Amino acid sequence: MLIIRSVKQLVKAIDRLKKEKKRIGFVPTMGFLHEGHLSLVRRARKENGCVVVSIFVNPIQFGPTEDFARYPRSISRDRQMLEKEHADILFLPEVNEIYPKGFNRYVQPGLLAKGLCGRKRPGHFRGVTTVVNRLFELVRPDRAYFGKKDYQQAKVIEAMVKRLGVKVKICLCELIRDFDGVAISSRNQYLSPEERIRAKALYQSLKKARRLIQSGIKDISHIRSELEAFLKAHVDQIDYVEIVNSENLKPLKRISGRVLVAIACFVGRTRLIDNRVIKG
Ligand code: PAJ
Repeated sequence: MLIIRSVKQLVKAIDRLKKEKKRIGFVPTMGFLHEGHLSLVRRARKENGCVVVSIFVNPIQFGPTEDFARYPRSISRDRQMLEKEHADILFLPEVNEIYPKGFNRYVQPGLLAKGLCGRKRPGHFRGVTTVVNRLFELVRPDRAYFGKKDYQQAKVIEAMVKRLGVKVKICLCELIRDFDGVAISSRNQYLSPEERIRAKALYQSLKKARRLIQSGIKDISHIRSELEAFLKAHVDQIDYVEIVNSENLKPLKRISGRVLVAIACFVGRTRLIDNRVIKG
């Protein structure tokens, strides 16, 4: 696996691959890799001649009170995991490579970023679309892989690519859970053993949502209050519990078609998110 730290070197390596007519599969990450990330890398490996993974903890997608400084980092472990998955290139840029002096090509995240995490984390999705667009310019992938763990993020990026006319296929990958149902996340690292047990409530509440919806209940405020009552008994703070249209992410009053049940909660100081698409 080639490890590349500078934009100049990356552009050269990608030029070479393009000449060889290799299909490039790209997996952008912030590192501290786990089975969720690896599922994306494995799919990229199957579907492309060349796999590029980036690890970049993007400062501009973190709010001033968020965990940028303490975000977990473990490059040597990540590197070993990627070697095992036969990734071809690991791109590991410093902040000044991605955002050189005078950088001003910020990308607006569009309407899909208005609700859910976008409402709770102002500026977050603008940071995500800006960095992903910048990485796409550098890596020039044929396909890029995103997890449904961050469902809204994946939808925001799909819409961005469409709007800007970027020629890349966005591939959405299933959400990977731990043995106990907890959605795997780099941030699970922050949880104490006691908090880790309480974190199961997010997944349990999504199962509850499925049961309620499949029993024919249509009134969303009723379903939300049931979920909130359940969550309150386990988590420290509910950031949001929302049920929205799974394609345009618009709020609904009644269940109709495929809905996204999306949850964000604090367990201790850690903000966790989870979601599930359910057919009404
Ligand atoms: P990060 O949180 O490192 O996630 C990188 C990719 O892995 C994202 O597409 C995310 O949805 C996916 N992923 C994480 N946990 C997953 C799980 N349990 N199951 C399936 N997929 C999972 O998301 C980001 O980084 C950043 O915002 C980024 C897109 C890299 C831009 O900075």
